[in-house]
Amino acid sequence: MAWTILQPFPYDFDIPDTTTKSILRTDGVRVTLRNILSVVSISTAFTQLNCEGSLLSVTMPHKEAALACSDEVDPIAKYIGAVNTLIKRPSDGKLIGYNTDYTGAISAIETTLQGSSGKVSAGSPLADKVFVVLGAGGAGKALAYGAKEKGARVVIANRTYERAKELANLVGGQAISLADLENFHPEEGMILANTTSIGMHPNIHDTPLSKQALKSYALVFDAIYNPVVTRLLREAEELGVTIVTGMEMFIRQAMGQFELFTGLPAPEKLMRDTLLSVQ
Ligand SMILES: NC(=O)c1ccc[n+]([C@@H]2O[C@H](COP(=O)([O-])OP(=O)(O)OC[C@H]3O[C@@H](n4cnc5c(N)ncnc54)[C@H](OP(=O)(O)O)[C@@H]3O)[C@@H](O)[C@H]2O)c1
Repeated sequence: MAWTILQPFPYDFDIPDTTTKSILRTDGVRVTLRNILSVVSISTAFTQLNCEGSLLSVTMPHKEAALACSDEVDPIAKYIGAVNTLIKRPSDGKLIGYNTDYTGAISAIETTLQGSSGKVSAGSPLADKVFVVLGAGGAGKALAYGAKEKGARVVIANRTYERAKELANLVGGQAISLADLENFHPEEGMILANTTSIGMHPNIHDTPLSKQALKSYALVFDAIYNPVVTRLLREAEELGVTIVTGMEMFIRQAMGQFELFTGLPAPEKLMRDTLLSVQ
C-alpha cells in the first residue's frame, strides 16, 4: 500500500517546494511526505502531483479550503469548520474530509492530566474544569469543541474579539478579550491551550501570555510544534505548571489519520520516533 502525505505548509522543516521525502516504511506500507508550497486548488492536488495513495494531510492555513473542497465532510469536522485530513474514497474517488486535530490535542491533555494526578477516574479529567482557548482559528475551534465535548467550561480569548464571540456561541462558552485574559483567574487549576501562532519559529522569543498570568493554570498546552518547547511552555514549566507540547498533538493527530486511512492501529512507536527525529 502506498500512502502519500501532502503537507501544504510552508513553515515546516525547510523542505523545498514539491520535494518528496520518504518518512517511514513499514511492511507493506510506504509513506511519503511531499511538501507543496503553492497549492492552487487542494482538490486537484492529488492529480496535479500524480501522488500514489490517497490521503492529504492539511495544515494551516488550508483547513477551511480543505473543508470547502470535500465532497463529503465528517459531521464533527463540519461542526468545527476545519478539515485536516482528506481521504480519497477508493470506491468512487470522492474526497471525504475529517478532523483529527481535536482528538489528538484533547487525548494528549487528558493523558497528561491523568498521569499527573495519579488518579484513575471514570470520566474525563477535563470535566467541569475551566478550559481557556487562546485563538479562534482552525486549531482553536478543534480544541474548543473537544474540551466542551469532555464537559469543560470553555472560555475563548482571541485578538479579534468577534471571532472569539462567534466560537464561544458555537460551543456554548464564554468570550473574553486578550487584554482581560491577563487578569483572568476565576479559580485555580485552570487549563490553558494556546492555538495562536505566537511563539512559532522564527519568532521564538514571543509569547501570548505573561509568565505572571500562567500561575493560575494547572496545565498549559501549546499547539505550536516548532519549536517543541515554546517560550510559553518554558515559562509555565519554570513555575511548576504541567505542560503538553504541540508535538504530542501532532503525533496523535497523525495516528488518527493513519487509523482512518488504513483501519489499522497506528504504529505509535514508529511514528513517534520518526516525527521526533525530523526536528
Ligand atoms: N500540533 C499540531 O498538530 C497542530 C495542529 C494544528 C495547528 N497547529 C498550530 O496551531 C497554530 C494555529 O493554527 P491554525 O490552523 O488554527 O491557524 P489559523 O486558523 O490561521 O488561526 C490563527 C489564530 O491565531 C491568532 N493570531 C495569529 N497571529 C496573532 C498575533 N500576532 N497576535 C494575536 N493573535 C494572533 C488569530 O487571531 P485572529 O482571529 O485575530 O486573526 C487566530 O485566532 C499554528 O502554530 C499551527 O502550527 C498545530
